[in-house]
Amino acid sequence: MTKQAQTPRHVAIIMDGNGRWAKKRLLPRIAGHRAGVETVRKIVRCCTEQGIEVLTLFAFSSENWRRPEQEVSLLMELFMFALQNEVKKLHGNNIRLRIIGERTAFPEKLQALIRHAEEQTQHNTGLVLVIAANYGGRWDITQASRYLAHQVEQGLLTPQEINESLLAKHLSFADLPEPDLFIRTGGEQRISNFLLWQLAYTELYFTDTLWPDFDADAFQLALTSFATRQRRFGRTGDQVEQDAQAKNSNR
Ligand code: IPE
Ligand code: IPE
Ligand code: MG
Repeated sequence: MTKQAQTPRHVAIIMDGNGRWAKKRLLPRIAGHRAGVETVRKIVRCCTEQGIEVLTLFAFSSENWRRPEQEVSLLMELFMFALQNEVKKLHGNNIRLRIIGERTAFPEKLQALIRHAEEQTQHNTGLVLVIAANYGGRWDITQASRYLAHQVEQGLLTPQEINESLLAKHLSFADLPEPDLFIRTGGEQRISNFLLWQLAYTELYFTDTLWPDFDADAFQLALTSFATRQRRFGRTGDQVEQDAQAKNSNR
C-alpha cells in the first residue's frame, strides 16, 4: 500500500477525561479541567512545531450546560482566565484564535474577551487555533440552514440553488480546510455532537489516555496512525495508488 506519509492540515480534538483524571486523584473535577489547560498548551506547541495549519479543540458542548451549575460556572471562569492569560502568548507566537459556537449564551464579559482575542490575533499567519465553545454540530447545520432560509425569503436565492457547497459555506470555519484527523481522548468512542458535517471524511482516532495525561508522545502516536491510513474518498485503493504514483513521477 502506498502510504500517504503526511501531516494532517487540520486536527480536531475532543478533549475528554478531565473529570475522571481528577477523580482518580481524589481532587475536585475542576482540578482536572485546570490540568487540561496545561495539555492544551503542550498540544498547541506540538502543532506549531509540526506545521499543522489548524487545531480545533472542543472546550464546551451545547449539552455541557446540563452539568451541575457549579461546574459550569467554574468552567466559564477558567475559560475567561485562560483567555486573559494566554492570548498575549498566543499572539506572540503568531497564532490566530477563533471561537466557534453560540456565543450569545455566554456572560457579556466573556463575549467581550472573545471578541478582543479574535481581533488581536486576526492578522497572525501561523497556526489557527479554533476553540469550540457552546458548540454543537446540529446547531451549526441549523444556523446555516436558517441563514439560507432567510435568503430565500428575501428572494435572493431559490431552493433549487441550495446545494452542499452553498450550505457548507455558511457553517462555522467554512474558510478553513476540513479536519483531516479527529482525536478523542478519554476512552469514549462517540462524536458527542461535535463537528457533524465537517467530519464526514475525517480519519477518526480514539485513545483511552485521559486529556490531562495526553502529551507530545501520545499526540505523535495519533499522527503516526494518521500517516499509515489510505484516504480513499469513495474510490478504490488501486485508484488512489495510481494517482499517487502519477503525482510522484510528475515531480
Ligand atoms: C472534558 O472532560 C471537558 C469538558 C467537557 C469541559 P470531562 O469533564 O467530560 O471529563 P470526564 O469525561 O468526566 O472524565
Ligand atoms: C464532549 O465531552 C464535550 C467536550 C469535550 C467539551 P463530554 O464528556 O461532555 O461528552 P459526553 O456527553 O460524555 O458524550
Ligand atoms: Mg466527558
